[in-house]
Amino acid sequence: MTNVLVVKANNRPASQGVSSKMYEVFMDAVKGAENLNVTTYDVFEENTPYFGQEVFDAYGKLAQGQELNEAEAAVMAAQTKARQAITDADVVVFAFPLWNLTIPAKLQTFIDYTYGAGFSFKYNENGQLVSLLTDKKAIILNARGGIYSTPETSGMEMAVNYIKSVVGGVYGMEIIDEVIIEGHNAMSDKAEEIKAAGFAAVKEVAERLTKVAVNA
Ligand SMILES: Cc1cc2nc3c(=O)[nH]c(=O)nc-3n(C[C@H](O)[C@H](O)[C@H](O)COP(=O)(O)O)c2cc1C
Repeated sequence: MTNVLVVKANNRPASQGVSSKMYEVFMDAVKGAENLNVTTYDVFEENTPYFGQEVFDAYGKLAQGQELNEAEAAVMAAQTKARQAITDADVVVFAFPLWNLTIPAKLQTFIDYTYGAGFSFKYNENGQLVSLLTDKKAIILNARGGIYSTPETSGMEMAVNYIKSVVGGVYGMEIIDEVIIEGHNAMSDKAEEIKAAGFAAVKEVAERLTKVAVNA
Protein backbone atom coordinates (compact mmCIF):
# COMPACT_ATOMS: atom_id res chain seq x y z
CA MET A 1 0.00 0.00 0.00
CA THR A 2 1.32 3.42 -0.92
CA ASN A 3 0.36 6.30 1.33
CA VAL A 4 -0.35 9.38 -0.77
CA LEU A 5 -0.71 12.77 0.88
CA VAL A 6 -2.28 15.43 -1.29
CA VAL A 7 -1.48 18.96 -0.14
CA LYS A 8 -4.39 21.03 -1.46
CA ALA A 9 -3.42 24.68 -1.59
CA ASN A 10 -6.32 26.47 -3.21
CA ASN A 11 -9.78 27.04 -1.73
CA ARG A 12 -11.33 28.36 -4.93
CA PRO A 13 -14.01 26.01 -6.26
CA ALA A 14 -12.84 23.68 -9.05
CA SER A 15 -15.15 25.54 -11.45
CA GLN A 16 -12.96 28.63 -10.99
CA GLY A 17 -9.48 27.74 -9.83
CA VAL A 18 -7.47 25.79 -12.39
CA SER A 19 -5.22 24.23 -9.75
CA SER A 20 -8.36 23.37 -7.74
CA LYS A 21 -9.59 21.52 -10.80
CA MET A 22 -6.20 19.75 -11.07
CA TYR A 23 -6.69 18.57 -7.50
CA GLU A 24 -10.19 17.35 -8.35
CA VAL A 25 -9.04 15.52 -11.48
CA PHE A 26 -6.25 13.85 -9.51
CA MET A 27 -8.60 12.76 -6.71
CA ASP A 28 -11.18 11.41 -9.18
CA ALA A 29 -8.50 9.41 -10.98
CA VAL A 30 -7.12 7.76 -7.83
CA LYS A 31 -10.53 7.07 -6.31
CA GLY A 32 -10.92 3.40 -5.49
CA ALA A 33 -7.31 2.48 -6.30
CA GLU A 34 -6.60 -0.56 -4.17
CA ASN A 35 -2.84 0.08 -3.95
CA LEU A 36 -3.24 3.65 -2.67
CA ASN A 37 -4.23 5.15 0.65
CA VAL A 38 -4.95 8.78 -0.30
CA THR A 39 -5.46 11.57 2.22
CA THR A 40 -5.79 15.32 1.76
CA TYR A 41 -4.14 18.02 3.84
CA ASP A 42 -6.08 21.17 2.95
CA VAL A 43 -3.90 24.13 3.89
CA PHE A 44 -6.88 26.50 3.91
CA GLU A 45 -8.75 24.33 6.42
CA GLU A 46 -5.95 24.21 8.97
CA ASN A 47 -5.55 26.57 11.90
CA THR A 48 -1.94 27.48 11.17
CA PRO A 49 -0.86 30.88 12.51
CA TYR A 50 1.88 32.61 10.55
CA PHE A 51 5.46 32.10 11.62
CA GLY A 52 6.57 34.75 14.08
CA GLN A 53 7.48 35.33 17.69
CA GLU A 54 4.56 33.29 19.03
CA VAL A 55 5.94 30.22 17.28
CA PHE A 56 9.50 30.95 18.37
CA ASP A 57 8.35 31.49 21.97
CA ALA A 58 6.69 28.08 21.86
CA TYR A 59 9.92 26.49 20.58
CA GLY A 60 11.90 28.21 23.33
CA LYS A 61 9.51 27.12 26.06
CA LEU A 62 9.45 23.54 24.82
CA ALA A 63 13.25 23.42 24.78
CA GLN A 64 13.28 24.55 28.40
CA GLY A 65 10.46 22.25 29.47
CA GLN A 66 8.16 25.18 30.26
CA GLU A 67 4.40 25.09 29.96
CA LEU A 68 2.88 26.53 26.78
CA ASN A 69 -0.04 28.95 26.81
CA GLU A 70 -3.15 28.07 24.81
CA ALA A 71 -2.07 29.87 21.63
CA GLU A 72 1.41 28.37 21.72
CA ALA A 73 0.01 24.89 22.34
CA ALA A 74 -2.29 25.33 19.32
CA VAL A 75 0.66 26.32 17.12
CA MET A 76 2.65 23.29 18.22
CA ALA A 77 -0.32 20.99 17.65
CA ALA A 78 -0.71 22.40 14.13
CA GLN A 79 2.97 21.86 13.46
CA THR A 80 2.84 18.30 14.76
CA LYS A 81 -0.14 17.58 12.52
CA ALA A 82 1.59 18.98 9.41
CA ARG A 83 4.80 17.05 10.12
CA GLN A 84 2.94 13.83 10.92
CA ALA A 85 1.12 14.07 7.59
CA ILE A 86 4.48 14.16 5.81
CA THR A 87 5.95 11.41 8.00
CA ASP A 88 3.05 9.09 7.17
CA ALA A 89 3.32 9.66 3.41
CA ASP A 90 5.27 7.76 0.77
CA VAL A 91 4.24 10.24 -1.93
CA VAL A 92 3.34 13.89 -1.40
CA VAL A 93 1.34 15.62 -4.12
CA PHE A 94 1.39 19.42 -4.10
CA ALA A 95 -1.57 21.01 -5.94
CA PHE A 96 -1.13 24.78 -5.95
CA PRO A 97 -1.53 27.93 -8.01
CA LEU A 98 0.89 30.69 -8.89
CA TRP A 99 -0.54 33.80 -7.30
CA ASN A 100 1.40 37.06 -7.48
CA LEU A 101 4.43 35.17 -8.76
CA THR A 102 4.52 32.88 -5.73
CA ILE A 103 2.54 30.35 -3.65
CA PRO A 104 -0.51 31.10 -1.47
CA ALA A 105 0.39 32.22 2.06
CA LYS A 106 -1.35 29.19 3.60
CA LEU A 107 0.94 26.88 1.63
CA GLN A 108 3.92 28.96 2.75
CA THR A 109 2.83 28.32 6.33
CA PHE A 110 2.66 24.57 5.68
CA ILE A 111 6.24 24.78 4.42
CA ASP A 112 7.23 26.87 7.47
CA TYR A 113 5.82 24.20 9.78
CA THR A 114 7.56 21.31 8.02
CA TYR A 115 10.88 23.01 7.14
CA GLY A 116 12.72 22.46 10.36
CA ALA A 117 16.22 21.37 11.28
CA GLY A 118 15.94 17.91 12.75
CA PHE A 119 12.79 17.11 10.78
CA SER A 120 13.36 17.78 7.09
CA PHE A 121 17.13 18.39 7.15
CA LYS A 122 20.14 18.55 9.42
CA TYR A 123 23.70 19.80 9.18
CA ASN A 124 26.52 17.25 9.31
CA GLU A 125 29.81 17.68 11.16
CA ASN A 126 31.24 19.51 8.13
CA GLY A 127 28.38 22.01 8.10
CA GLN A 128 26.78 20.50 5.02
CA LEU A 129 23.02 20.23 4.72
CA VAL A 130 21.74 16.65 4.82
CA SER A 131 18.18 16.01 3.63
CA LEU A 132 16.10 13.85 5.95
CA LEU A 133 13.06 13.04 3.80
CA THR A 134 14.85 11.16 1.03
CA ASP A 135 12.58 8.14 1.35
CA LYS A 136 9.65 10.18 -0.01
CA LYS A 137 8.52 11.04 -3.53
CA ALA A 138 6.80 14.23 -4.61
CA ILE A 139 4.48 15.21 -7.43
CA ILE A 140 3.97 18.82 -8.52
CA LEU A 141 0.59 19.99 -9.89
CA ASN A 142 0.60 23.70 -10.66
CA ALA A 143 -1.31 26.26 -12.71
CA ARG A 144 -0.20 29.72 -13.77
CA GLY A 145 -2.08 32.07 -16.06
CA GLY A 146 1.00 33.65 -17.64
CA ILE A 147 3.99 32.05 -19.33
CA TYR A 148 7.03 31.39 -17.18
CA SER A 149 8.76 28.66 -19.15
CA THR A 150 10.82 30.96 -21.39
CA PRO A 151 14.40 32.00 -20.52
CA GLU A 152 13.20 35.62 -20.14
CA THR A 153 10.43 34.81 -17.64
CA SER A 154 11.56 31.68 -15.76
CA GLY A 155 13.51 33.66 -13.16
CA MET A 156 10.33 35.49 -12.08
CA GLU A 157 8.55 32.26 -11.26
CA MET A 158 8.68 31.63 -7.53
CA ALA A 159 5.98 29.02 -7.03
CA VAL A 160 7.20 25.83 -8.74
CA ASN A 161 10.84 26.90 -8.39
CA TYR A 162 10.30 27.45 -4.69
CA ILE A 163 8.43 24.22 -3.98
CA LYS A 164 11.01 22.24 -5.95
CA SER A 165 13.88 23.88 -4.06
CA VAL A 166 12.21 23.08 -0.75
CA VAL A 167 10.90 19.57 -1.22
CA GLY A 168 13.38 18.38 -3.84
CA GLY A 169 16.36 20.38 -2.64
CA VAL A 170 16.20 20.69 1.14
CA TYR A 171 13.81 17.88 2.10
CA GLY A 172 15.41 15.51 -0.42
CA MET A 173 12.20 14.08 -1.86
CA GLU A 174 12.45 12.62 -5.35
CA ILE A 175 10.17 14.55 -7.70
CA ILE A 176 8.66 11.77 -9.80
CA ASP A 177 6.13 13.75 -11.84
CA GLU A 178 4.97 17.27 -12.57
CA VAL A 179 2.19 18.92 -14.50
CA ILE A 180 2.24 22.66 -15.04
CA ILE A 181 -0.67 24.28 -16.81
CA GLU A 182 0.43 27.67 -18.07
CA GLY A 183 -0.56 30.48 -20.38
CA HIS A 184 -4.35 30.10 -20.28
CA ASN A 185 -4.77 33.75 -19.24
CA ALA A 186 -2.01 35.09 -21.49
CA MET A 187 -3.43 33.24 -24.52
CA SER A 188 -7.13 33.30 -23.76
CA ASP A 189 -8.08 32.09 -27.25
CA LYS A 190 -6.25 28.82 -26.47
CA ALA A 191 -7.34 28.60 -22.82
CA GLU A 192 -9.71 25.65 -23.12
CA GLU A 193 -7.21 23.64 -25.15
CA ILE A 194 -4.37 24.38 -22.70
CA LYS A 195 -6.44 23.46 -19.67
CA ALA A 196 -7.86 20.28 -21.23
CA ALA A 197 -4.35 19.06 -22.11
CA GLY A 198 -3.22 19.81 -18.56
CA PHE A 199 -6.11 18.00 -16.92
CA ALA A 200 -5.47 14.98 -19.18
CA ALA A 201 -1.83 15.04 -18.05
CA VAL A 202 -2.91 15.12 -14.38
CA LYS A 203 -5.13 12.10 -15.00
CA GLU A 204 -2.16 10.24 -16.54
CA VAL A 205 0.05 11.07 -13.56
CA ALA A 206 -2.64 9.79 -11.18
CA GLU A 207 -3.20 6.64 -13.21
CA ARG A 208 0.54 5.92 -13.21
CA LEU A 209 0.43 5.99 -9.43
CA THR A 210 -2.43 3.51 -9.35
CA LYS A 211 -0.29 1.04 -11.32
CA VAL A 212 3.02 1.10 -9.49
CA ALA A 213 4.14 0.65 -5.92
CA VAL A 214 6.26 3.67 -5.08
CA ASN A 215 7.04 2.89 -1.46
CA ALA A 216 9.45 0.09 -2.32
C1 LIG B 1 -4.69 36.37 -6.46
C2 LIG B 1 -4.18 35.94 -7.81
C3 LIG B 1 -2.92 36.33 -8.23
C4 LIG B 1 -2.44 35.95 -9.48
N1 LIG B 1 -1.18 36.32 -9.86
C5 LIG B 1 -0.69 35.92 -11.05
C6 LIG B 1 0.62 36.26 -11.46
O1 LIG B 1 1.39 36.86 -10.75
N2 LIG B 1 1.03 35.85 -12.68
C7 LIG B 1 0.22 35.12 -13.51
O2 LIG B 1 0.65 34.77 -14.61
N3 LIG B 1 -1.02 34.77 -13.15
C8 LIG B 1 -1.49 35.15 -11.95
N4 LIG B 1 -2.74 34.78 -11.57
C9 LIG B 1 -3.50 33.87 -12.41
C10 LIG B 1 -3.28 32.43 -11.93
O3 LIG B 1 -1.92 32.06 -12.09
C11 LIG B 1 -4.20 31.48 -12.68
O4 LIG B 1 -5.55 31.73 -12.30
C12 LIG B 1 -3.83 30.03 -12.51
O5 LIG B 1 -4.85 29.23 -13.07
C13 LIG B 1 -3.56 29.60 -11.07
O6 LIG B 1 -4.54 30.02 -10.15
P1 LIG B 1 -5.89 29.20 -9.87
O7 LIG B 1 -5.47 27.77 -9.65
O8 LIG B 1 -6.48 29.86 -8.68
O9 LIG B 1 -6.69 29.33 -11.14
C14 LIG B 1 -3.24 35.16 -10.33
C15 LIG B 1 -4.53 34.75 -9.90
C16 LIG B 1 -4.99 35.13 -8.67
C17 LIG B 1 -6.35 34.65 -8.21
